[in-house]
Amino acid sequence: MVESVFDFGVNRIALEKGLVRKHSWNPRDFATDKHKTVDDRPFGGGPGMVMQYAPLCKSIQAAKEKLPDPWIVYLSPHGNRLNHQKVMELLQKPSLLLLCGRYEGIDQRIIDRYVDEQISIGDYVLSGGELAAMVVVDSLLRQIPGVLGHEQSAQQDSFVEGLLDCPHYTRPEEIDGLRVPSVLLGGNHEKIAQWRRKQSLGLTWKYRPDLLEGKQLSEQDQHFLDEYIQQSKIKK
Ligand code: ADE
Repeated sequence: MVESVFDFGVNRIALEKGLVRKHSWNPRDFATDKHKTVDDRPFGGGPGMVMQYAPLCKSIQAAKEKLPDPWIVYLSPHGNRLNHQKVMELLQKPSLLLLCGRYEGIDQRIIDRYVDEQISIGDYVLSGGELAAMVVVDSLLRQIPGVLGHEQSAQQDSFVEGLLDCPHYTRPEEIDGLRVPSVLLGGNHEKIAQWRRKQSLGLTWKYRPDLLEGKQLSEQDQHFLDEYIQQSKIKK
């Protein structure tokens, strides 16, 4: 399952170009009984099963032999919430070992002994850490220089400057009576950049006002935002 995040699009290209290396270890391969058991009932009782210490410990040891100085992340609802800043922070690590649990979770002693950081992808519970690990991988790969076709694409993404991205349009210029904003057709790069900035600020104000709280806007940005707000009032 986790390997499939490398099967498509820019992630696949990143792998093919050698911009990233990956390997996965299945704790079942380190189980010692004939049923390849990796879980057991929780001490103290209660529902569900817990992943055992030994197969996970052996998986981590095997991974550590292959990875240079890995930063060990356990995907869990207990963790720090993943955001753009966290993605950029993880990108600085020499290598990442993403530890995925199943069932009710993993034996706490693995966390205490090995885990450097827990990361959550949101306030809901997944049936396993794999999807969360895939989200981490996907968000990291697009930030590696050379992975996106256009060098600036990742820099223009939402959240990079703490703002949402501006709207995008492609051909045709008009469809079903809907026109592309004329400024984008004019070829005036300064005007286009200003329009985009204004849209980014305006959309952030509209959809994610929390991102603007405590943010010091330049005089120019404040002016763009005031204009956007004024215009959106007129449209109503
Ligand atoms: N594992 C289960 N739920 C999760 C979540 N919300 N984020 C990360 N890992 C998880």
